[in-house]
Amino acid sequence: MRRKFVAGNWKMHGSMVENAALLNAVIAGMSQLNNVDCAVCVPYPYLAQAQNMLTGSNIMWGAQDVHQLEKGAYTGEVSAEMLKDFGCRYAIVGHSERRAIYGESNLIVAGKFAAAQNAKLVPILCVGETLDDREAGHTESVVAAQLDIVIEMCGVHALRNCVLAYEPVWAIGTGKTASPEQAQAVHAFIRNRVAGHDASVAERLIIQYGGSVKPSNAVELFSMPDIDGGLIGGAALVAEDFLAICRAGN
Ligand code: G3H
Repeated sequence: MRRKFVAGNWKMHGSMVENAALLNAVIAGMSQLNNVDCAVCVPYPYLAQAQNMLTGSNIMWGAQDVHQLEKGAYTGEVSAEMLKDFGCRYAIVGHSERRAIYGESNLIVAGKFAAAQNAKLVPILCVGETLDDREAGHTESVVAAQLDIVIEMCGVHALRNCVLAYEPVWAIGTGKTASPEQAQAVHAFIRNRVAGHDASVAERLIIQYGGSVKPSNAVELFSMPDIDGGLIGGAALVAEDFLAICRAGN
């Protein structure tokens, strides 16, 4: 049985004061929940705050991106080893906002995935189609290309130490959630594709759903057989909503 995993992606939100209030509330609420895994992926400047506040709690933390190289003249970038210095367990790679706004290709994302794993971080690999892709009937081929390049570069066994997040781009921050059936269909496609390489890796793989997850739809989404939790954007900034979503996975 896979445990549900709920991760908050704060994106470019927060302040020292706001974060302290949010994290204190999440720590208190999560202390009542033992059957769900939980993490927050915070902006880089708040990693130390997350480490200070979350050490000793049952909430893990991580970053929202990582550079694909170990070190060098890459102004503004952050390496996987740097994230390790702040006790990170996770690094999101390939979020659709990074792909769309910063032009990250499937190849760059695969490099980031490898860099995270080389530093013993667990990558949360985001995949998902745009509305145009979906309407053209290309959902599966787009998701397959995003996944296959990671398997080619890192090997299927690399998927033992990662999390996948299926995030249809058209559902992110739009209030339009994929229906549980729409999401389940893509999650099953992903798991079957991995099973084509290795059935036991596929069986254990945590596949989160992301895109307008809210307290009102989390129970239904998480009840689908191949949906193992969620990657939560907007609702992760409101303690009671985030905790309600965690409870749905507990
Ligand atoms: O990483 C999280 C996703 O982009 C979902 O964001 O819950 O605000 O739609 P959202």
